[in-house]
Amino acid sequence: MKYFIGNWKMFGVPKSINILNKINLFYSKDANRNKYKIIITPPYTLIETFSKHFKNKKILIGSQNCYQKDKFSSNTGAVSSHMIRSVGAKYTLVGHSDNRAEGDTDLMLKNKIKFALKNNLKVVFCIGENKNDKKNKRTFSIIRKQLTKVLEKKFNQKNIIIAYEPIWSIGTGKLPTRAELDSTTTYIKSILKKIFRKNIPPVLYGGSVDDISINFFKDIRLINGFLIGGASKSSKKFIDIIKNYYR
Ligand code: 13P
Repeated sequence: MKYFIGNWKMFGVPKSINILNKINLFYSKDANRNKYKIIITPPYTLIETFSKHFKNKKILIGSQNCYQKDKFSSNTGAVSSHMIRSVGAKYTLVGHSDNRAEGDTDLMLKNKIKFALKNNLKVVFCIGENKNDKKNKRTFSIIRKQLTKVLEKKFNQKNIIIAYEPIWSIGTGKLPTRAELDSTTTYIKSILKKIFRKNIPPVLYGGSVDDISINFFKDIRLINGFLIGGASKSSKKFIDIIKNYYR
């Protein structure tokens, strides 16, 4: 099973549902549809409307983040996994580099995952090195720390997906080389194997994936799907990503 996840970031108002209606129409007729899942993570404000609208459809709705405490608390502006699940989301991203840059620590991320899983959300845990790490050949050590300091053996790995998003590739049009992607994905899978032993989570790639660059990823079988930012805001681009991937 492959995953095509569209992360809308700070984008969308209620009428933006039209983008998803078009994607859903394509999906419902696509001969390849049993080979992949589509998940969209709109902002909090749209989760309920979108989840209700697509309840019996194939598009799944997720959140872009969740708070590191269970249920309810006195944290202004915070939204917990319990609240996210209660309005119909099935997934949540955790540890996106945007949120890490705003102060998410490993302990916060661990708690976010813990409470997300407890509240029946599947977790898409984002990891990845920045430009400087890459330049100084620290990619593997950064990734190892990001995984081992947060993930625990007792977490149910069946409800976890890993998204490898090198920060230097997000929104820049820069892609890793084939060799870099092969070796980093293999490394990530080897660490996951050490943590979970068996049934290791799928590993997705994110960073400048669009309807053109998807051709580069087509035959990299180690990658189990994609986390797509900018291109997920256009129904045409998102549909073309899937079409080109299976062409
Ligand atoms: P872009 O696809 O715009 O590079 O963003 C990737 C991303 O951050 C998805 O979470």
